[in-house]
Amino acid sequence: MTATASKPMIDKGLASTIAAESAMSYIDGEKGVLEYVGIDIDDLARNSTFEETVYLLWHLRLPTKSELETFSQQIRAEYELPEPMWDLIGNLPKTASPMHAIRTLISALALHDPEADVHSPEANTRKGIRILAKTPALIANFDRHRKGLDFIKPDKSMDMATAFLTMLNGEKPTDTMAKALDVCLILHADHGFNASTFASLVTISTLSDMYSAVTTAVGTLKGPLHGGANEAVMHTLKELNDVSEVEDWVKGKLERKERIMGFGHRVYKAYDPRATYLKTFAKQLAEDTGNQKLYEMSSRIEEIMDEAVGSKGIYPNVDFYSATSYYAIGLDIDLFTPMFVLARNAGWVGHCIEYLEGNKLIRPRCEYTGPHKAPYVPINER
Ligand code: CMC
Repeated sequence: MTATASKPMIDKGLASTIAAESAMSYIDGEKGVLEYVGIDIDDLARNSTFEETVYLLWHLRLPTKSELETFSQQIRAEYELPEPMWDLIGNLPKTASPMHAIRTLISALALHDPEADVHSPEANTRKGIRILAKTPALIANFDRHRKGLDFIKPDKSMDMATAFLTMLNGEKPTDTMAKALDVCLILHADHGFNASTFASLVTISTLSDMYSAVTTAVGTLKGPLHGGANEAVMHTLKELNDVSEVEDWVKGKLERKERIMGFGHRVYKAYDPRATYLKTFAKQLAEDTGNQKLYEMSSRIEEIMDEAVGSKGIYPNVDFYSATSYYAIGLDIDLFTPMFVLARNAGWVGHCIEYLEGNKLIRPRCEYTGPHKAPYVPINER
């Protein structure tokens, strides 16, 4: 469907709308390809690090060794939270869901940033680094707060994945666990104009500010049709006791026209390449951590789904096997979507900076379907 300025057409869900250009990530939904700046996601997952991937997305090229060193130091220098943020975390209700807490805390970072309303590209990059670097301490320490544990400050000698897991668990993770999280962060770092990225662009296009844009994005990511799906997948797996229950469960859901979380995608009508990688990865992690049963149930859900709806192009998406991967890393289920925040900060910030280079207010129209020339009836006569 096309739309011209003079004769706009309805494109519900914007499924056929190309809203702007971007050089960050390329998706071929028919062939199941995802590239960040031309580099295949599989190559990045195998060889890169999250920090290097963020540099790639923000600078549209891989860094040299010294550029990566400098960038990593810039991120680490921003790990620490402004002092009042610790009080804020400590005053949040322990019953709050982590996604509500993270959205509130990222928003609150703006209150302590003198550059919050400075709009130069350099200031936006600095704010992007701050958001990216401080999010691990926010998530991990909110989790500690709700569990009645003392705060742990971020350790600048560690990369982001290691620093996060150390704060979360109170001890340094094994190299395998830190690497597992790092790979998940790479795979979730960017994905074109997904719903949360687009939401961030709507906000930044008004010339609001980076904190507002990322806060908008976090709220958008939370929904189960988007980033919240990974938690829904795990709840499903927990509901099932055994592989033998899977077939009836999946078929029953499909008969009732209910969705199986972690399957289907607006763009991919072939296997999501992130899921391809994560599937092998989740299997290995499950074996290493004694979670084989979860992996077997996931694999069986995939088999039944493939027979039932594979021909419609409905395959596992990134959320399906990331759920078992996060579980194997030892994360609580309600921290799965916050991991998506940690990673997707890279995409949100990068796209906002890119979009601002040729900014145009995002403001679609709607087709009015209500009455015309309606009388105003005084309140006593209604
Ligand atoms: N389970 C069962 N049927 C499905 C599913 C699913 N997960 N996904 C799509 N379908 C069916 C849907 O019922 C419809 O069938 P019919 O044509 O017979 O009515 C057809 O496929 C097209 O669905 P749609 O909702 O029109 O397609 P969409 O492009 O709007 O939806 C989606 C994309 C991701 C919202 C959808 O696939 C879905 O709800 N999936 C489950 C939630 C999920 O896993 N979300 C994570 C997405 S990937 C990561 C991310 O963005 O965070």
